[in-house]
Amino acid sequence: MRRIDPETVRKILDTADIVEVVSDFVNLKRRGANYMGLCPFHNERTPSFSVSKAKGYCKCFSCGKGGSAVGFIMEHEQLGYGEALRWLANKYGIEVAEEEMTPEQMEAATERESMLALNDFALRHFEHNITENPDGRAIGLSYFRERGITDAAIKRFRLGYALDRWDALLSDALNKGYSEKLLLDTGLCGKSERGQLFDRFRGRVIYPVFALSGKVVAFGGRTLRKDKDVSKYVNSPESVIYHKSNQLYGLYQARRAIVSADKCILVEGYMDVISMSQRGMENVVASSGTSLTDGQISLIHRFTENVTVIYDSDAAGIKASLRGIDMLLAEGLNIKVMLLPDGEDPDSFAQAHTLEQIQAYMAEHETDFLRFKTQVLLKDVAANDPIGRSRVITDIVRSISVIPNDVTRNEYVKECSRLLGANEDTLALQVAKFRAQAADVKAGRTRPTNENSGDESAIVTDSSLIKRETAISSDRMAYLRPYELATLRLVLKYGMIHLCDVTDNEGNIMPVRVIDFIDSELAQDDMTFCNADLLNAYNAAMGLTDQWRHERAAKEAEVEEIMNRHREEGVKRIMNEATTLAQTKKLEDELGAEIENMRNSMLDEFDELFISRLLASDPDDTLRRLAANMVSEKYQLSRIHTKHSKVETERDCLADRVPKAVYGWKNAVLEWQEKELRRLMTDAAANNDSDRVNSILTELMELRGKVTALAKYLGERIVLPRK
Ligand code: CTP
Ligand code: MN
Repeated sequence: MRRIDPETVRKILDTADIVEVVSDFVNLKRRGANYMGLCPFHNERTPSFSVSKAKGYCKCFSCGKGGSAVGFIMEHEQLGYGEALRWLANKYGIEVAEEEMTPEQMEAATERESMLALNDFALRHFEHNITENPDGRAIGLSYFRERGITDAAIKRFRLGYALDRWDALLSDALNKGYSEKLLLDTGLCGKSERGQLFDRFRGRVIYPVFALSGKVVAFGGRTLRKDKDVSKYVNSPESVIYHKSNQLYGLYQARRAIVSADKCILVEGYMDVISMSQRGMENVVASSGTSLTDGQISLIHRFTENVTVIYDSDAAGIKASLRGIDMLLAEGLNIKVMLLPDGEDPDSFAQAHTLEQIQAYMAEHETDFLRFKTQVLLKDVAANDPIGRSRVITDIVRSISVIPNDVTRNEYVKECSRLLGANEDTLALQVAKFRAQAADVKAGRTRPTNENSGDESAIVTDSSLIKRETAISSDRMAYLRPYELATLRLVLKYGMIHLCDVTDNEGNIMPVRVIDFIDSELAQDDMTFCNADLLNAYNAAMGLTDQWRHERAAKEAEVEEIMNRHREEGVKRIMNEATTLAQTKKLEDELGAEIENMRNSMLDEFDELFISRLLASDPDDTLRRLAANMVSEKYQLSRIHTKHSKVETERDCLADRVPKAVYGWKNAVLEWQEKELRRLMTDAAANNDSDRVNSILTELMELRGKVTALAKYLGERIVLPRK
């Protein structure tokens, strides 16, 4: 795949708004300075996914995943860096010079990316058929028209048609350089016993299935023939990019409507979604004929807590599907159920009614799920059948017991005691029993097993010297890592911030940034990071200095202009207000101080996180994650309250924190050296090598001296001159 030029990369990263990007996948609610939502990376019921607009950054406090906009898209869509950038560019309409991939380039792209690229090609092939190809128009397009599907809906759902030939797509794709392997992997083609590839979709209308990213992950093809011996639907097989149980048909198109209606309508099939949607009920998704899965439910939950399930009136399926709905309850969703009039499905119902009629029908017929379930189950039980009744009660109680929210659950206990004429306390007791059982089961499943832990010592007892040396250096890395991290953290977050000034021999005042201070301290003791990933990040941060200077200058000019305007206005105001010379002078001084403050805080804001913001979007995986983690820590840091209860942030005490971190690290290095020397001395003593013992002793004494001096230094509050 072609590289995107750096300028475009920068433009994409600058334009991408983290809140907008995440909102494509998660329903975010404002919470103070940040936004919160349900984490898209793990199953959860209470939001722990936090998005900071100001920092361009998101993170789950529960599972730890997150990152910058590009990092989020990479993680969420499982895309490579370049693909994620293209995703963002596409979202913001930023032009990225795109070349057709050569077969060699295609080989290099990841399997996933190539499959998605082929699917995208197939999507356009099928779409082209229905709009341009005479057969496609005559058969596919007229089929949809006959079924009352508008051209707008065809476009919105990107419906298509597969020609009734065995190689229509196949030859088109091969011509474009897509490999046979890809055609088989995506399931667009099958292979005959004689080894000949053939199109899976032939003579069928095509419903593409979009993932939330807007990528086509699968296709459904419906036959147009009435005879019973062809299967009505042919679907893409499961693959690296398609897990049926984690997709909901129509969710990509419906997601905004779901958020704005704060409700998701669940139907069965492709046509149900399309017909409802073109009528104006856009918050509709389909489970595609199968029962709901956990993955699908948490997909819905990301956008809303309210789900209405629409059933055809044919009662056969209803009872079977009741169980699936318990899963929705367990997820903490509010479930309603709606039955359609006899003989109707959502498709036919939507075709026959206006939006207003549909809305009115819904308002009248939506029923709370548990009440609905009670009614359905009781209908089959005779009034004089106590055992049947008690079975129904148990079934309902089991459903109630999975509801996570205490208040909601208790409300349901009350309601059902009324509906079923059963004693409320008895029901509550039974609910408690089920919950205890469920908790046991869960605990049993998560109990850790310790079966395979006896073997590791074998590695440690291997006595070869190399192994031992490696073990020592990796010990050293592990020992020093927290100290190196603590320093690196300050570099990434505050590196470009002005820390203090120094005066050189000629009396010139030189500003010192956090990163300069740390760098000169390290140089002084000729030390550096021994953890390779941290060293890499440090070097990357150092490498941003030029860019910072450049952008800082532009920022300064911009700030200066704002300040000038502010000053002009201030001076005008003073001329109007001040009556004496003394007053004028006083007001002018105040104005000057105010402007100075504003300028400093605007520039400080620019400097803070300058490094981590850039690195959090870096193509290097380790670097990006590291930087991302550093930024996110910010939220969790407790703030220090002084006796005046003024809130002091870490940012305010850098003059204290930065030296402490560096000296703490130096101290740890010395401690490690001391440990090493003691070990060497034990060895030398065991060998009766008294010269060696003595020389090590001398070294140790020297080292002790350094440690003590540093400890004393560390103990004192370090005060550096601040401007
Ligand atoms: N389905 C599927 N694969 C099958 C059968 C069904 O994916 N082999 C899914 C499709 O999403 C389909 C839904 O289940 O839309 C419901 O199936 P069905 O009721 O048979 O089809 P309809 O949607 O009613 O299709 P149509 O109205 O075009 O007859
Ligand atoms: Mn139908």
